[in-house]
Amino acid sequence: MKTIIPLALSLLLNFLVLCAAADHESSSSTSTSTTILFATLGGRSANAFDVFALPTWDPPSITTEIRITDGRSLNFNGHFPSSSLFSLLTNQSLIQTRPEPIPTELIYVTERNGTWNIYYDAVFRNTPRSTRSRSALEEEEEEDNLVRFQLPLLGSMQSNNQISMKDKPSLSGDYLVYVSTHEDTGEPRTSWAAVYSTELRTGLTRRLTPLGIADFSPAVSPSGVWTAVASYGEKGWNGDVEELSTDIYVFLTRDGTQRVKVVEHGGWPCWVDELTLYFHRRGSDNWWSIYRAILPSEGLVSTESVVVERVTPPGLHAFTPAASPGNKNFIAVATRRSTSKFRHIELFDLAKNEFKELTRLVSPQTHHFNPFFSSDSNRVGYHRCRGESNGRKNTQLLLENLQSPVADVSLFRMDGSFPSFSPAGDRIAYVEFPGVYVVNRDGSNRRQVYPDSAFSTVWDQVRKGVIYTSTGPTFAEPTTEVDVISINVDDDDDLNGQPKFKKLTTNGENNAFPFPSPDGKWVVFRSGRSGYKNLYIMDAVDGERAGLQRLTEGPWSDTMCSWSPDGDWIAFASDRENPGSGSFELYLIHPNRTGLRKLFQSGSGGRANHPTFSPDGKSVVFTSDYAGISAEPISNPHHYQPYGEIFTMKLDGSGLKRLTHNSFEDGTPTWGHRYTKPLDVEWLKGGPRCSFEDCHWLNQTPNQNHGDVSSKPQCRA
Ligand SMILES: *[C@@H]1O[C@H](CO)[C@@H](O)[C@H](O)[C@H]1NC(C)=O
Ligand SMILES: *[C@@H]1O[C@H](CO)[C@@H](O)[C@H](O)[C@H]1NC(C)=O
Ligand SMILES: *[C@@H]1O[C@H](CO)[C@@H](O)[C@H](O)[C@H]1NC(C)=O
Repeated sequence: MKTIIPLALSLLLNFLVLCAAADHESSSSTSTSTTILFATLGGRSANAFDVFALPTWDPPSITTEIRITDGRSLNFNGHFPSSSLFSLLTNQSLIQTRPEPIPTELIYVTERNGTWNIYYDAVFRNTPRSTRSRSALEEEEEEDNLVRFQLPLLGSMQSNNQISMKDKPSLSGDYLVYVSTHEDTGEPRTSWAAVYSTELRTGLTRRLTPLGIADFSPAVSPSGVWTAVASYGEKGWNGDVEELSTDIYVFLTRDGTQRVKVVEHGGWPCWVDELTLYFHRRGSDNWWSIYRAILPSEGLVSTESVVVERVTPPGLHAFTPAASPGNKNFIAVATRRSTSKFRHIELFDLAKNEFKELTRLVSPQTHHFNPFFSSDSNRVGYHRCRGESNGRKNTQLLLENLQSPVADVSLFRMDGSFPSFSPAGDRIAYVEFPGVYVVNRDGSNRRQVYPDSAFSTVWDQVRKGVIYTSTGPTFAEPTTEVDVISINVDDDDDLNGQPKFKKLTTNGENNAFPFPSPDGKWVVFRSGRSGYKNLYIMDAVDGERAGLQRLTEGPWSDTMCSWSPDGDWIAFASDRENPGSGSFELYLIHPNRTGLRKLFQSGSGGRANHPTFSPDGKSVVFTSDYAGISAEPISNPHHYQPYGEIFTMKLDGSGLKRLTHNSFEDGTPTWGHRYTKPLDVEWLKGGPRCSFEDCHWLNQTPNQNHGDVSSKPQCRA
């Protein structure tokens, strides 16, 4: 069963170019070709989302739940088109025969090869096989006795050949309305998320969001005339990672004009008719609830003339509403009740003020996200982790290839934190919480080399098999017991079957983020021994007893240091401009304490962390909030820092490039000397575990926790 041929698209909508643009291609592997690895947090590899649906009115049961998407990669944020797209296929002679009966049609977001795109699937169930000849677009799924037609709806032309994420699609007539991040706002700490519409027949694409503004969660009115979004408007992002301080705006879907703010404080709008919207907000009593906004039928539309009322009661969290023009008496919502640790989809009867549970009765122990209705209201869709459903083998990836915007650099998401390549590039060290592991680049020979809590890994460039790490808790005070150790992973094992390790620091005062000099003689690290986290250099083999020098000094935090391949520079993150504020900038300093200069600042109050050098020493890769947040955090699993994206920049401060586009937390990048072919590498340790956490701020019920239900985001310092 092959995945669908992307070529079909250029046949179908002959303007599309699906392959990456020339400057994205990194097929050659010259001697300067390298590899960047990074980790996505929040249990990303365990998400394994598929879009499912339940009938709205029948009693929910396992037998009536259907999986609509294909069980590959990550499929989420579905939308049932109100008019059939299938004629697009038949009209272009892409398929000759239309199988019976009526298909389930779905538009959704999928992460294929690390990039979020919008796909269309038409699924025919219970179609007798081998009675018809198959076309190129078709795929039969044996287990489910179904036939699937699948098409990407957007190509790189719609994104000016820029890599981007696509999200939250809806179809209105011939127009696909969605979020894309392909345009750099040019302003630090400003989201690139903006709403676009693409006419599917011609590919003509129009930006609907004003330049310099970020819009999230678009929803098109039943007539198609209006689109509502959640937006900061002019006020910009204030660093929120729980509820975004967005307002609801409405504009003409046609061209984005007549933009007007209709509601202060709200997100995730949806329309039931041309004058009625539902949306969510965290109310003054701290419960997330659904609210209704009624627009005036005549006269000026403004936040004053729009009538807002609360719809769902306190006592449970209800959010991400979906309305259906087909049945105005019900909305669908996601809920978190104090009686369950899981997020579930429920209907809310607006006349009776009653909830009707759906997914908890089918899969009680799984989170369900972002409901949507079919246009006749007879079906509610949502996404959840697929688990090991239908006997289908699930693969999980050790290395997931992403399209790289940098020539000669292949880019991978690693299923493990703080990854680092061995000098030969054949092995990767990484951290699970707890434990340090080493695995071959092909996914084989995974082995725990240290059992306890540790963070950061790096290989010695000279002494084969030696890695450095810091053991102890993360995010701790300067005096917390954390020490730097070295482990020779090729050494004979001790009695516990683990290689021996050597403690290089002795005082246990938050010694962390070791990084060896290229000649293997020294290790730079941060330590809290003075009462503040500053940088020090010690002997790489025998540790601080054999030699210790101070590199930086001041009442602030210097941390996450790395040494350049020519030995001349140490890059690090520091909050010295505003100590304790949580804001971090990148700096460079020579190991002899001269030459200090700031390399990168992500706006005022921004964050840039975990810099490491390219093998040629001319650039650094790091993680930053430079591109803000790309989606409402409540529409995703928990991420402490959902703004984390990976960037590279030259040492002279020029050439900033954004490498990742998603609404997850990407961090702890590393830049390896060898080129890795841009192909996924499968884990040999088994399928997805569906073990990830729901947004932490939904775990607490407001009455138990007056005032502050937030768990403060922390920097991995
Ligand atoms: C397909 O062709 C029919 C008949 O020519 C036309 O009415 C319809 O609009 C076309 N549909 C699409 C999606 O092109
Ligand atoms: C994903 O990458 C593989 C290998 O590079 C390629 O064969 C495949 O066509 C890609 N799929 C998509 C949907 O781009
Ligand atoms: C400090 O080190 C840098 C680079 O390693 C070198 O260029 C510079 O001359 C050194 N300065 C002193 C005062 O030694």
